[in-house]
Amino acid sequence: MKRIFKVLIALFLIAAIILAFAGCKKDEGIIKMGTNAEFPPFEYVENGEYVGIDVELAKAIAKELGKELVIEDMAFDALIDALNSGKVDFVAAGMTVNADREKNVDFTIKYYNASQTIVVRADNEDIKTKDDLVGKRIGVQTGTTGYDLAMEIKDAVVNSYNNGLEATMDLKNGNIDAVIIDNFPAKKYAERNSELKLIEGEFEEEQYAMAVKKGNKKLLDQINKALQKLMEDGTYDSILEKYSE
Ligand code: ARG
Repeated sequence: MKRIFKVLIALFLIAAIILAFAGCKKDEGIIKMGTNAEFPPFEYVENGEYVGIDVELAKAIAKELGKELVIEDMAFDALIDALNSGKVDFVAAGMTVNADREKNVDFTIKYYNASQTIVVRADNEDIKTKDDLVGKRIGVQTGTTGYDLAMEIKDAVVNSYNNGLEATMDLKNGNIDAVIIDNFPAKKYAERNSELKLIEGEFEEEQYAMAVKKGNKKLLDQINKALQKLMEDGTYDSILEKYSE
């Protein structure tokens, strides 16, 4: 009787150890990307799948690292907290490098040059430059660099939206006068909406990078190495081209 118990306990322990190891292994094989998949053509949902430049780039990076990519979709302004709490391993979200964010995360090498664009209704005659935005109602996505710029405009009423699409919808409906959003998404929205037009080149250039938790040098180096390779071997260019059509 006693012996049977001992054997059972031993077997149980062995099973527990094997399961624990398997658990670790499984986790080691996964890399979690945080994003806000409402930002075409960098990340969005199409036919129930996450697609876009960042998504494909992240998949290629994961492949380089020998890991499986898992995507965690959330509000843009929740991304940095998700990184710092360990909910995600890195962020790829068309995120602009700026001094504020550099205090909280470590950025990878920069992979895309962008600039904020002003979107107005096609029939708008009085907004031609950023100076014409003084005192106007401006829509932006919460927590973005577009929001920061809108807040600097004198007497502007700034409306924050969950995503750029909602902002442009409100613009079409006449509830706001302009939207400030990154140039590439702006172009995508305008292409699908003849009621909208773009005013480009009014704001300074920005650069996108991916981000890791501050101090996570190991992952930062790994992503940088992979990014560098994908930029050199033409993978990056072909992804960009695919989404530029
Ligand atoms: N580039 C801008 C920023 O960093 C907007 C990024 C929005 N990205 C997104 N996936 N919604 O603030």
